[in-house]
Amino acid sequence: MFVDAHAHLSDAKYGGEIDEIVNKYRKAGVGAVVNSGYDEESSVKAVELSEKYEDMYFTVGVHPDEASSFTDKTEKLIKTLAGKKKCLGIGEAGFDFHWNKSPEDLQEKAFEKQLETASELNLPIVIHSREATKKTLDFLKERKELLKSGFLMHCFGESEEIAREYVELGAYFSFGGVITFKNAKKEGVLSVVPFDRILTETDCPYLSPEPYRGSVNEPSRIPIIAKKIADVKGVDLKEAENIIETNFKRFYRI
Ligand code: NI
Repeated sequence: MFVDAHAHLSDAKYGGEIDEIVNKYRKAGVGAVVNSGYDEESSVKAVELSEKYEDMYFTVGVHPDEASSFTDKTEKLIKTLAGKKKCLGIGEAGFDFHWNKSPEDLQEKAFEKQLETASELNLPIVIHSREATKKTLDFLKERKELLKSGFLMHCFGESEEIAREYVELGAYFSFGGVITFKNAKKEGVLSVVPFDRILTETDCPYLSPEPYRGSVNEPSRIPIIAKKIADVKGVDLKEAENIIETNFKRFYRI
């Protein structure tokens, strides 16, 4: 089966009407979707979706854009939701200096707390890093002991050199629609990352792959991303599908 390691079907863009989207991705051969929380509300919604659809799982967390909203109450909520069936991890958490929607010190605090929670609960963590290359890498290097349950660099978009550092740190990497964009030049990075550390994601509703770039994304487009990975790795699509499924189950411990 194909897998979507990082999605947001809880997003308001879907208006809560996702039966059709679910049917579509099932038909496309996608057998598991992980909805990642990005604030309190979306985390709660991700849990609800996992209760409604057997092939949906979730992670709970607060995106760096929303770090200003992270309080002790949020930390408690994350821990409570993490105890639910079908919780596969913490996140997405990290740094985002593109929009700077939350000040750096609060992004740091929210990220640190979530890393601690992941470590404490023995769960992997999904990490978001945008325009924060050095900050994220240094931050994680200094906190290696909190990463023992695994971490996923989602929508990985860094250089080959940085990819090598993350491989060394033990990261898993998920790739989305961006690798299909013209001029994306992701072949080098995909070559540097060992195949057994690679997952596929949509990050839907964002980042639709070509030829759907610019439209609302959905998990049925995962095979397009897997095909790109298969081509770079020099295997056929079925083999890539199987390898990525195995990686997904190993990382999220399903
Ligand atoms: Ni995301």
